[in-house]
Amino acid sequence: MKIDIVTIFPKVFKPILGESIIKRAQKKGLLKIAVYNLRDYTKDKHKKIDDRPFGGGPGMVFTPQPIFDAVKCIKKDRGTKVVLLTPQGETLNQKLAQKLSKNKHLILICGHYEGIDERVRMSLVDEEVSIGDYILTGGELPAMVLVDTIVRLLSGVLGDKDSVKSESFCRGLLEYPQYTRPANYKGKKVPKVLLSGNHQAIASWRKEQALKITKKKRPDLLK
Ligand code: ADE
Repeated sequence: MKIDIVTIFPKVFKPILGESIIKRAQKKGLLKIAVYNLRDYTKDKHKKIDDRPFGGGPGMVFTPQPIFDAVKCIKKDRGTKVVLLTPQGETLNQKLAQKLSKNKHLILICGHYEGIDERVRMSLVDEEVSIGDYILTGGELPAMVLVDTIVRLLSGVLGDKDSVKSESFCRGLLEYPQYTRPANYKGKKVPKVLLSGNHQAIASWRKEQALKITKKKRPDLLK
């Protein structure tokens, strides 16, 4: 998979993309990520990428030219999906992450200020994604969140294939409780069934617990 990120703050991506699972996925050749500075694409002699909104109002709006030119330059073919990170978008969840992870090439556009010229949204963007009902200062953190959720779903990225299958939200339930050594920590004991070696009993205990936890913490998921 290829993910290209268009931003006015390219430096903030380095520490996240160069660590952990995302780093490993790139090393394994399963993923290629590139970050583009939007200012490199502006034709304005002062390197401006924004302007005051027509009709007045607070803040600045991203002008269309740098974004259209950046996407034209980066876009490969019809298979490329252009995603705008914006609070107006579809709220990100595991299902949306799964859908987006099926694409071969994504271009993520990080919005800022009061917004982005509407013509970008109308003519260039295939999908708008929000990471939740709150306003951040820009689309950079949402882009990182989106990349993280997608990358760990790519085949071969996580060592243990089962870890994606059993985790929270995968079957619409939260995850069952996990325990590790010691079996008795200062009198707090691990549930006996987990030490029993009876795999069927363990599986059914976990399913029961997952249901119980979901009912208590996120009853909306059961609807
Ligand atoms: N930009 C600002 N806030 C955002 C959010 N919640 N999701 C995606 N992009 C954003």
